[in-house]
Amino acid sequence: STRLIVDVDTGIDDALALLYLLASPEADIAAVLCTAGNVPVGQVTANTLAVLDMCGRADIEVAAGAQVPLVAPLMTTEDTHGPLGVGYAEFPATSRAPSSRSAAEAWVELTREHPGELTGLVTGPMTNLALAVRMDPELPQRLRRLVIMGGCFNHPGNTTPTSEWNVAVDPEAAREVFDAFSGLPSRQHPIVCPLDTTETIEMHPVHVDRIAEASESTPAEALSPDDPRGQRSRASNQVVRHLSDALRFYMEFHRDQNLGYLAHVHDPFAAAVALGTVPYTTTPATVDVELEGRLTRGTTIADWTGIWRREPNAAIVTATHPEVFFEHLTARVGAFARN
Ligand code: BDR
Ligand code: CA
Repeated sequence: STRLIVDVDTGIDDALALLYLLASPEADIAAVLCTAGNVPVGQVTANTLAVLDMCGRADIEVAAGAQVPLVAPLMTTEDTHGPLGVGYAEFPATSRAPSSRSAAEAWVELTREHPGELTGLVTGPMTNLALAVRMDPELPQRLRRLVIMGGCFNHPGNTTPTSEWNVAVDPEAAREVFDAFSGLPSRQHPIVCPLDTTETIEMHPVHVDRIAEASESTPAEALSPDDPRGQRSRASNQVVRHLSDALRFYMEFHRDQNLGYLAHVHDPFAAAVALGTVPYTTTPATVDVELEGRLTRGTTIADWTGIWRREPNAAIVTATHPEVFFEHLTARVGAFARN
């Protein structure tokens, strides 16, 4: 199994990534760390606790992270993920408090306790990990692997024309993380899941139906764009109901961006890459992040051919099989929701 530190900004697709991990026998989650991103860190932490508690996993540590990026003022995106970060879903309140240590402390301490064993999965801005590396520059060497959802290379951005959200929120953090892995052997280079690949992962209403079917719930319904806004799913299964309410908001957002009535579920794909449960190919490259530039701050740049004469520091996921991924995701999350 894969022992994981998961760092999230929950977030609709982060929530689905967590569900997927909880549904996966390969995943052994050591802690879930929260970062400010899609919504402020307090809301991210509440959402994350709610997902774990709803799935009966109140035993998993949840630690709150930094409230703001390293340098940039915080930006959040309620337009994309809803006022509370989970679309139209209304999660039950949790009485559980987050861990007494910070997310950065958890990164440092867990990797010291389990050197060489843990896979890091970051599906939000890299603020916590960058702070942890500042505290302990040897940290990257103690990770078995790091998987990042972030960046875009030969593909348009989703935040500025050339930048991806997780990097755009905290470009200094992203740059420090990529720098920290320079000089490590290629088997330890971060596996980067950029928009180039995650935007080929299109979740359609039919996939939500499949989850509902596999969960033996009454249909998710209310996922059609013709339903009046605000109508909630009537699925009999709690997880399916919350997921449909979250995804309907996310699909409406994508539709309003003229992308069609679908959702790019970036983070669940990165989770599957971390578990090795989905086919994918990677290409080595040297990755750096633009911090200046009137128009280009937050842009990730990959040198694929060695023009910079710097060793590669990343393995970029350049292709996958979306159909295989959705077969797997829907069957797994549905079966998990059933139980
Ligand atoms: C990333 O940005 C966030 O809004 C999503 O949760 C995902 O991690 C995609 O750019
Ligand atoms: Ca995210």
